[in-house]
Amino acid sequence: MKATLRPMTATDAAACAAIACASEIGQRYGFELGSLAKTLAAALESGGELFVAEAGGRLAGFAWIDPRGAFSSAPYLRLIAVDESVRGSGVGTALLAEFEARTAWVGRDYCLLVSDFNVAAQAFYERHGYLKAGALPDFARPGITEILMVKRRAGEDR
Ligand SMILES: CC(C)(COP(=O)(O)OP(=O)(O)OC[C@H]1O[C@@H](n2cnc3c(N)ncnc32)[C@H](O)[C@@H]1OP(=O)(O)O)[C@@H](O)C(=O)NCCC(=O)NCCS
Repeated sequence: MKATLRPMTATDAAACAAIACASEIGQRYGFELGSLAKTLAAALESGGELFVAEAGGRLAGFAWIDPRGAFSSAPYLRLIAVDESVRGSGVGTALLAEFEARTAWVGRDYCLLVSDFNVAAQAFYERHGYLKAGALPDFARPGITEILMVKRRAGEDR
């Protein structure tokens, strides 16, 4: 399915929050629709970098990125979620590629955290060149380990 990417706008915030809330991470982390929508809108308002993917004429997913959010130096993928009804059709791949393209100028490895239970997302990132680089037990929620995954920038001077 062909995904078209564009910047997120304030009117997208509720629909994006709904996608994240419906996912397993939303349920395990107890995301709340209204407060996540406000968080996304506030992030936009303060100049945060958020973009959406549209597929089949409707909003299919989104990503929230921070170009230097990892260790105040490296690109960090804060949040990515695709509507369950279109998962497995390339939308996540398009969002991940956009994250890397938009932050390539930073010149550091791409970083993200993924929950230990989220094995489907771990496999997705591994297929796109991310390697497990560490584990943070109880980092965001007690009983859940966050796995640091990093994609090396190939063949460039550091
Ligand atoms: C992780 C996530 C963003 C991937 O998005 P996606 O649109 O499904 O990704 P893609 O379609 O580009 O690729 C998914 C891969 O899984 C396969 N797949 C098949 N059916 C699938 C399904 N129902 N769900 C997910 N992946 C599926 C695809 O074939 C593809 O394999 P490939 O890379 O070998 O081609 C998405 O599953 C998601 O939103 N998960 C819930 C939120 C979440 O966990 N976010 C990550 C937080 S760290």
